[in-house]
Amino acid sequence: MKFLGIESSCDDTAVALVSSDKVIHAESRLSHLKVNEPYGGVVPEITARAHLKHLKGLIEKTLSHANTSLEDIDGFSATAGPGLIGGVITGVQMAKALALYHKKPFFGVNHLEGHALAPRLSHDLPFPYLLLLVSGGHTQFLNVKGVGQYDLIGTTRDDALGEAFDKVGKMMGLPYPAGPLIEKLAQDGHPTFEFAKPLCNQKGTDFSFSGLKSDVLRKIAALGTLSEEDKKNIAHSFQNTVRDVLINRTTHVLKKTGPVKQLVLSGGVAANQFLREELVNFLTPRNIELVAPPISLCTDNGAMIAWAGLENKRAGRPENLSINPRPRWPLTELNLI
Ligand code: KG4
Ligand code: ZN
Repeated sequence: MKFLGIESSCDDTAVALVSSDKVIHAESRLSHLKVNEPYGGVVPEITARAHLKHLKGLIEKTLSHANTSLEDIDGFSATAGPGLIGGVITGVQMAKALALYHKKPFFGVNHLEGHALAPRLSHDLPFPYLLLLVSGGHTQFLNVKGVGQYDLIGTTRDDALGEAFDKVGKMMGLPYPAGPLIEKLAQDGHPTFEFAKPLCNQKGTDFSFSGLKSDVLRKIAALGTLSEEDKKNIAHSFQNTVRDVLINRTTHVLKKTGPVKQLVLSGGVAANQFLREELVNFLTPRNIELVAPPISLCTDNGAMIAWAGLENKRAGRPENLSINPRPRWPLTELNLI
């Protein structure tokens, strides 16, 4: 069974063709950061137009790379939310139209479900598993019990972790998205700053990053103009703080869940090699394996949406042709379907 998946909920248009035997036959991705560059962020209206302009071409390119045609596709899926609504509408309408015309199933996929199930595309990973989902919009511990079955264990009370990376980057004059640039700068820096670790002196499984962000801002303001050395040291110290926060919260989560064999990491921030290695160092002595997909499946991509469509189909979940694109859509609402 082959699914064509479309991801268009933020600044990338991504299309992929994936089969149930976990083969990614082809994928095409186009970032719209260039058209947004003059504005220093992602402008929804400009990005929506870019999705609309490029989606058809990316689908054609994907099919041609896979040497296949629409007639050979067994189902279509698209991110139906949460995300920037203009892009989401574009992807959903295209996938619905293709599914209707070709009389094939359609699944409007929750973007977080895409991230949550992506590790099952790259790894042999049975349900249930403990997931730490760290992206630009979300930071959550989840118990993934099955397709469409998610228990929320902890979430952020304010900023998402990716958002904290991006905002700290902006304070240092880095372009969006700053996560990968901070990771690179940190490699040559030293731990010269001590930043706040919100909630870490408390029990519980929630995150908070706004206090950390404000503390970085205060210390940057005290420095005045930043030298290249300052930037490297801030990046290094910030990443160390993030590591400490993730490990502190994981410790509390493990007290709640009891023993687990694996901790699964997904979402854009899971692309961070330093954080992966530090989590491995923490988990290995506790006999817990870190499972994280390859970087291309961590940041937004079409393959995870195609795969989530396939997983929904195989699990016998209802098709949702009548679904309306949603800017907000908590993952746990899927439990009600
Ligand atoms: O999952 P994703 O591609 O989109 C959302 O669903 O939000 O995540 C994007 C986020 C951005 O905030 C970006 O800065 C962050 O992931 N990110 C990273 C790295 N690569 C991407 N953060 C830290 N280190 C990285 N290497
Ligand atoms: Zn994402």
